[in-house]
Amino acid sequence: MKAIVNEEYGSLEVLQLKEVEKPTPKDNEVLVKIYAASVNYGDKILVRGKPFLVRLMGMGLLKPKNTIVGTDIAGQVEAVGRNVKQFQSGDEVFGDIGACGFGAFAEYVSVPENALTLKPVNMTFEEAAAVPQAAGVALQGLRKGQIQPGQKVLINGASGGIGTFAVQIAKSYGAEVTGVCSTRNLDMVRSIGADHVIDYTQEDFTQKEQQRYDLILDMVANRSISDNKRALSPEGVYVAVAPNPSVMLLGSLMSRTGGKKVTALRQIPDVKDMVYMKELIEAGKVVPVIDRRYPLSDVAEAMRYLEEGHHHGKVVITVEHHVDA
Ligand SMILES: NC(=O)c1ccc[n+]([C@@H]2O[C@H](COP(=O)([O-])OP(=O)(O)OC[C@H]3O[C@@H](n4cnc5c(N)ncnc54)[C@H](OP(=O)(O)O)[C@@H]3O)[C@@H](O)[C@H]2O)c1
Repeated sequence: MKAIVNEEYGSLEVLQLKEVEKPTPKDNEVLVKIYAASVNYGDKILVRGKPFLVRLMGMGLLKPKNTIVGTDIAGQVEAVGRNVKQFQSGDEVFGDIGACGFGAFAEYVSVPENALTLKPVNMTFEEAAAVPQAAGVALQGLRKGQIQPGQKVLINGASGGIGTFAVQIAKSYGAEVTGVCSTRNLDMVRSIGADHVIDYTQEDFTQKEQQRYDLILDMVANRSISDNKRALSPEGVYVAVAPNPSVMLLGSLMSRTGGKKVTALRQIPDVKDMVYMKELIEAGKVVPVIDRRYPLSDVAEAMRYLEEGHHHGKVVITVEHHVDA
């Protein structure tokens, strides 16, 4: 099968389209014929091996342990191991395979059945591949902030991969949502349901005296903890999704004073979140925003586009299968 392989850490040039052995499912595994994948921030971290800390987190010290990266897949079950209970050949599935060895940028992957969920019936493979990690992070972040109906929720980075899901999920909880993004994305963020939008090139949400939020979900982390705390209501919660060392180090300490809480999210893929997302999607409450699509051979280009920061929503990889693939 064809796959995008990185055998060493380095720039995106290390990524090569290669012919590699097609996996065979173990007893508890499902072999998925991948039709679409999507690109996330973590992918380029694994390709570059930077920050160095990721290498110490079991990803391979000198060279990558997993030579095919990518966490988000959508595809069709081609074969199942003999202990697999939930799936059978022909089922259409999607999932975040980040906890079971990665491998989304390939024609096939074999993963434990508990990494997969039946694909929402009203979606294409490309749309389904946009969902897993970004929607999983958005959902876990909003839950960590203890989202409740009627709350005022601010999404910082509302136009991005995670933010576009966060806006829609927060609305599905019955929150009043404010999305922060750049001028060119204001209409898009409104169109996915934000009640209010703030253009960060014109206004700083932390400096608006009259406006306080019960929950801030932060995909940018470009303001200090005290600025974010100022924008919270007396019992409000700030959740850092983007890496924010000061929140990780001082969050619990700074949460002791007053009712306001400051915390950081570390998302862990959970199939229960995907079941929840499938229901929201099938109920028409969440629709992925897809910016661009790239073929499998252009994964490096897709990552470069993401790195440039001009995208909105998700960047998707389409996987075409030729005869005998
Ligand atoms: N905690 C976890 O477990 C976890 C898991 C996955 C990812 N992450 C992190 O989450 C972060 C966001 O990921 P993502 O995939 O959503 O990224 P993304 O698609 O690049 O979205 C970020 C968005 O932020 C907006 N932005 C840039 N500068 C801004 C500013 N000053 N104020 C407000 N918005 C601004 C950009 O929108 P405009 O184009 O409109 O400027 C962009 O669309 C990354 O840092 C990633 O590493 C964390």
